[in-house]
Amino acid sequence: MLIVQISDLHVTTPGRNVVPGVDTAALAAAAVQRIRALDEAPDAVIVTGDLVDEVLPAEYAEAARILAMIDAPVYLVPGNHDDRAMIRSALAGHGYLPPEGRFHYTVEGYPVRLLALDTLVDGQVHGTLGRDGLDWLDARLSEQPDRPTLVFMHHPPFVTHLPVMDGWRLTDGPAMEAVVARHRHVLRVVAGHVHRFVVAPFGGTIAMTAPPLCHAIALGPGDERGFPFYTLESPGMLLHRWDGERLTTQLAQTTGDWEPRRF
Ligand SMILES: [Fe+2]
Repeated sequence: MLIVQISDLHVTTPGRNVVPGVDTAALAAAAVQRIRALDEAPDAVIVTGDLVDEVLPAEYAEAARILAMIDAPVYLVPGNHDDRAMIRSALAGHGYLPPEGRFHYTVEGYPVRLLALDTLVDGQVHGTLGRDGLDWLDARLSEQPDRPTLVFMHHPPFVTHLPVMDGWRLTDGPAMEAVVARHRHVLRVVAGHVHRFVVAPFGGTIAMTAPPLCHAIALGPGDERGFPFYTLESPGMLLHRWDGERLTTQLAQTTGDWEPRRF
């Protein structure tokens, strides 16, 4: 089973860029083209939040248009640059989304069970699961203890050592780690939000963040206003492949020259 993870699209409307020279809609479309060109078609594509930038209906229309070009089933969770109601209306075909409340859900029927966590706190940059979210996670993991499971969410539940982003972290990461540590069948916990690839041990499993499809967040401290610096490093995606025994993750850039060449 191949699960492709893309994150932090920050799609905008034509003519407006999040940062100078970065056309996020074009970068998201380039990622979709790379997904379509994979030798092995993905079984599922997960999107770990921040579909759009300013949370405008026109941005969601553009994001929906780009995501619709993916042939595989697409499963998304909201980030801090998202709005649940707008997602529900712009991505009405995403019937797996709960009709009300937060976007916690499971995806059944694959060799790997997918478990989505909604960490969005309306109007805030940081994320929270809360008691309800933690209890939901524990209950879902408890009900199928023999199914290999991948958990995906926007805010990483671990310290990334990206100083500004850690200030905008999931507030109850340690509590989530305690839940995950009670279950041995969690293959991976994957997130986005920090716009960099980061890996850490977490509750007896491995947690990681995907790179963004747009601008990256710089290593090191931010500016005097408390904002991070950004960089123009290559965007990328993660390929999580389950072979029946292990989940292996590959990082693939979504821009640049990725055409295979004969030696
Ligand atoms: Fe983001």
